Amino acid sequence: MTIAAVVTAAGSGSRLGADVPKALLHVEGRALVAWAVSRLGEIAEAVVVTAPAAHLSAFEEAVDGAARVVAGGDTRQDSVAAGLAALALDDDDIVLIHDAARAFQDPSVAAATVRAVQSGADGAIPVLPVVDTLVTAPGPDGSVGDPVDREAFRAVQTPQTFRARVALDAHRRGSAGATDDASLARELGYRIVAVDGHEWGFKVTRPSDLPLALSIAAQLEAP
Ligand code: CTP
Ligand code: MG
Repeated sequence: MTIAAVVTAAGSGSRLGADVPKALLHVEGRALVAWAVSRLGEIAEAVVVTAPAAHLSAFEEAVDGAARVVAGGDTRQDSVAAGLAALALDDDDIVLIHDAARAFQDPSVAAATVRAVQSGADGAIPVLPVVDTLVTAPGPDGSVGDPVDREAFRAVQTPQTFRARVALDAHRRGSAGATDDASLARELGYRIVAVDGHEWGFKVTRPSDLPLALSIAAQLEAP
């Protein structure tokens, strides 16, 4: 049984607005995708990165042999499917699906998702409590909606980890609109369990996320 991983990095990063694809952005001297691969590499034996088709060689340079690079697709779901296909998984393997944009996720979180699958879950995802007060979206006149009990909600991170046959089935039969891999699997009736996420698993999305990324990278680089 192999523990393998797909690192999705084929997005452009339009909200970040850098002049390179987001996963190539350098933080403390290393591209985000390289940070993601090296941290996940502590858990996964084989890693495939899905990159924008026009930037394959730049991604190969960035990961420097630590992962195989394949072209992603137009949506994250297409990119994950391309990564799964490239891994040539056996049904009983375990596969982690991770966003390069969550480059600093703590390896202990990935390990916890793997343990949950080894203990019998079909899949496992890291979640965190929601810190903000939540209300439903405002109506056309701008009036905010009802408050929502935030204790009833969790924010979802990656890696999302599955028995390989579950991930493959979810991507074969799941609906096109799902925003993550666990939702695809869950709608087919698979049992997905939650493990504790980590603050460092935040998704680098906007320019205001960069100071935190820099501060974490500096702590990791410190001797
Ligand atoms: N991703 C991907 N293929 C796509 C779109 C996204 O592999 N077609 C990846 C991104 O590279 C990222 C992860 O999915 O690692 C999460 O997506 P997001 O943070 O939304 O990244 P982008 O889509 O690149 O950013 P934006 O939405 O701001 O353009
Ligand atoms: Mg996106």
